[in-house]
Amino acid sequence: MAKLIFELSSLGHQAVTFPPSHLPSVSFDEFENQGNIDLPEIAEIDLVRHYIGLSKMAHGVDTGFYPLGSCTMKYNPKLNEDVASLEGFAKIHPLQPLWSVQGNLKAMRHLQDALSEICGMDEFTLQPAAGAHGEFTGMLIIAAYHRQNNDLKRTKVIVPDAAHGTNPASAVMAGFDVVTVKSNACGGVDLDELRSLVDENTAALMLTNPNTLGLFDPNIKAIADLVHEAGGLLYYDGANLNAIMGLSRPGDMGFDVVHLNLHKTFSTPHGGGGPGSGPVGVKTHLIPYLPKGSYLKDLPTLESAPSLSIGRMRSFHGNFLTTMRALTYILFNGKGLKDVSMNAVLNANYMMHQLSDVYTVAYPQTCMHEFVLTLEKEKDQYNVSAKDLSKAMLDHNMHPPTMYFPQIVHEALMIEPNETESKATLDEAISLLKQLHQTMIDDPSYLQNAPYTTPVLRVDDVLAARVPILKYHKE
Ligand SMILES: Cc1ncc(COP(=O)(O)O)c(C=O)c1O
Repeated sequence: MAKLIFELSSLGHQAVTFPPSHLPSVSFDEFENQGNIDLPEIAEIDLVRHYIGLSKMAHGVDTGFYPLGSCTMKYNPKLNEDVASLEGFAKIHPLQPLWSVQGNLKAMRHLQDALSEICGMDEFTLQPAAGAHGEFTGMLIIAAYHRQNNDLKRTKVIVPDAAHGTNPASAVMAGFDVVTVKSNACGGVDLDELRSLVDENTAALMLTNPNTLGLFDPNIKAIADLVHEAGGLLYYDGANLNAIMGLSRPGDMGFDVVHLNLHKTFSTPHGGGGPGSGPVGVKTHLIPYLPKGSYLKDLPTLESAPSLSIGRMRSFHGNFLTTMRALTYILFNGKGLKDVSMNAVLNANYMMHQLSDVYTVAYPQTCMHEFVLTLEKEKDQYNVSAKDLSKAMLDHNMHPPTMYFPQIVHEALMIEPNETESKATLDEAISLLKQLHQTMIDDPSYLQNAPYTTPVLRVDDVLAARVPILKYHKE
């Protein structure tokens, strides 16, 4: 088991030696009186080994296959990093005079226009810091729109049962009541149920298309018409945009608001709570509601807000360097963004097809960028769950797919092998999954007790959730 940095501490060791100072000395008595703050004392070499050691225990897109469904864990090209670390981008301050950051503003505008073109929307704000933050922004915009129209009875937001949990959460945070619409036998929105739910109280429908089953809803036009005819708006969760770039556009499908996850589709890093970016795009009728701090075409100054703005969603102009990584990716690919999506769809269908002789695919029709397996049969026959199989993958340098989601599929494993994975990598993963399936039959206890090689083996899920130990207590 890895030691904590505090456990490595040994009195008098230090990692930093400051050069002699030519400045007058200052007294720190004020701080010294606050008692011992107990920082670890450790030599530089041990410090470096500690953190490099920890980094080697983590699995990331740079270390191995990472098919986390609905998350688009694609490779983050190092060119993005080169551009984001250019002095003119990395060493500016948001309070700098405007004349000195004209190039940066131009780059933001360029990205907003590119995203508008890709999505078929009329304007974008780069303010939101993540997908869920974008959803919340979009929901506030929708609420403000109905308020402005004095349409105060519109309190209901309809969300499919396959939706990501952040969708209903964002709607509730914005003050709406959430109503669930169920999926039909083909995995799309059940039109009859939707018809029974949509009425004069409907504020919006939130949808991701393709959805979290990896299926494109062929009824999208009928769905959009239903909601619009009742006076509601359509919100597009763009987490799955990787499947459709250059092929279809949310704006053309009828969506009024969309959020994107730059840290998914546009290859900027995510995970670890790192700086994501969830730009929100709108059609013309919603531009006046965009957040303050957005860089919009007709605003007289950067500090002015659109006329009916929902207000500021975060400080300054969003995670600027993340947006520059996304712009680099878009400019690098150009029209090739269409190939990105087509290859993502091809990879998912290849893998689904190759696995379908051994595993059960929940919705076996042609998928988009991801597909969902169900291990319900294996659980009954061998008492091996989706979790057991996932744990076994950890011993083989493969990050498990998303487990137990979408919730409408029992013992679900949602696999998204995106376009950056080679056929060789996909074949290795397919062969591993088939091998583990055979082991499930021959020796189920092997999977029930996996993993065997990770620094932390099985944790008690219930205890970890109910009594989490979030602080280190020094002996
Ligand atoms: C379908 C879907 N919507 C929304 C989100 C939320 O995005 P974020 O994690 O950037 O907040 C996710 C995240 O995984 C998602 O898969």
